[in-house]
Amino acid sequence: MVTPRQKELVKATVPVLREHGVALISHFYKRMLHGNPELKNIFNQAHQAEGHQQRALASAVLAYAENIDDLSPLLPAVRHIAIKHCTIGIRAEQYGIVGKHLLASIKEVLGDAATEELLDAWAAAYGSLAKVLIDAESAIYEEQSMSEGGWSGWRPFVVAKRVQESADVTSFHLRPADGGTLPVCKPGQFVSVRAYLPSVGLVQPRQYTVSAAGPDSLRISVKRVAATSAAPAGMMSNHLHESLKEGDCIDVSAPLGDFTLADDTSPVALVAAGVGITPILAMLNSIAKDTPERAVDFFMVCQDRAHFPLRGEVEQAMNSLKNGKLHLFYTKAEGDEARQCEAARRLAPTDLASVSADADWYICGPVPFMQEQVEALKARGVAAERIHFEIFGTGGMSK
Ligand SMILES: Cc1cc2nc3c(=O)[nH]c(=O)nc-3n(C[C@H](O)[C@H](O)[C@H](O)COP(=O)(O)OP(=O)(O)OC[C@H]3O[C@@H](n4cnc5c(N)ncnc54)[C@H](O)[C@@H]3O)c2cc1C
Ligand code: HEM
Repeated sequence: MVTPRQKELVKATVPVLREHGVALISHFYKRMLHGNPELKNIFNQAHQAEGHQQRALASAVLAYAENIDDLSPLLPAVRHIAIKHCTIGIRAEQYGIVGKHLLASIKEVLGDAATEELLDAWAAAYGSLAKVLIDAESAIYEEQSMSEGGWSGWRPFVVAKRVQESADVTSFHLRPADGGTLPVCKPGQFVSVRAYLPSVGLVQPRQYTVSAAGPDSLRISVKRVAATSAAPAGMMSNHLHESLKEGDCIDVSAPLGDFTLADDTSPVALVAAGVGITPILAMLNSIAKDTPERAVDFFMVCQDRAHFPLRGEVEQAMNSLKNGKLHLFYTKAEGDEARQCEAARRLAPTDLASVSADADWYICGPVPFMQEQVEALKARGVAAERIHFEIFGTGGMSK
């Protein structure tokens, strides 16, 4: 339990966390991954290199200190973290390791300011937050294990089929190696996959949306992240494209995620950029199958026809809708191809203006793209509860 005095001490550290939280958490990760190098196999090494995970945890710790008197505003964030943890198979006993390195880091970074009383207060506060997450995660694990065809942690899958979907996206159709069935996967949910990457000598997890699901197989569709002059090639996506062949095995977590289509009859606007098509297509297919009369505005943004993943499936689903409109934006098309789309340019927020005011919005694409659309929708008066988006990364985005 955190005493009132301890809560006051934790709240008193808020200004320090605001200013130096990322430095503290960066120190923490360095310390933990040095002291417990086995954890490099569960933390996304690209998120570490780019500082995304350091910022995600620093902002979670700050939000916790700010809300320690009443944690209810944090419940959606707790659920989001618990879901991510469960797809990576985080276990209760690992909280002790994180706690040990976090407290030692507070002591090392704050120096003399870290009195015994303050450290005790943070130990109690960490224990209390850890319990909230452990409880949320064990509830998810239990639900997964109890559901028909479900499992918790990792399960080996065999690649039944590979399909090239566009210039840089390949789908992998995956079946449980044990020949068993799968739980129901809601359109928009994702799994983690885990593989040993010889290039870094580590096992690494990554998340992929289930772009199609059946009772005994699921499909993920992976964009190959190419190297640029400023950044190296993506580790996992290149490994999957180059090395994961039909008949090979890979570990997969059970589907989870709250970026799912609400059962409703209201008009819906689906907005996808690039490989952000994966959850959006799963939603589109479910509307085409279950509620084809529902009004759908579907916005797709990609470079050109060759970079439109799963295009045939999108067209098929759009054709089964009674009230569907496809708005296609090719950002790099020329000539005839440019004339085959709504506009040969990026999507501008004004392009969304024709959508009915009572629509629910589902958006997936790069963060700056989503941020731009979400801000425009808010400015137009669309309620935050009607705007849903999924980040293909770690950490948040302001709504
Ligand atoms: C919920 C969710 C669903 C997702 N669904 C999909 C999906 O359906 N399809 C899909 O393709 N992806 C999806 N993703 C993204 C996916 O999980 C991976 O992030 C993506 O495949 C890239 O992984 P990678 O290992 O290839 O690249 P990483 O090796 O993880 O690299 C990612 C980026 O970081 C850069 N980087 C790495 N190290 C450094 C460094 N030292 N300095 C500078 N830059 C660096 C790389 O150049 C690259 O641009 C999803 C993510 C989430 C969270
Ligand atoms: C109170 C303790 C903890 C807090 C507040 C916390 C917070 C977070 C947050 C905010 C994220 C980002 C979620 C997202 O946006 O997707 C995250 C991801 C993650 N957490 Fe935790 N976490 C805690 C404990 C742990 C523990 C004990 C482990 C296991 C050692 C762990 C491993 C991970 C991993 C592997 C990720 C994904 C990282 C990535 O994709 O880069 N966390 N956590």
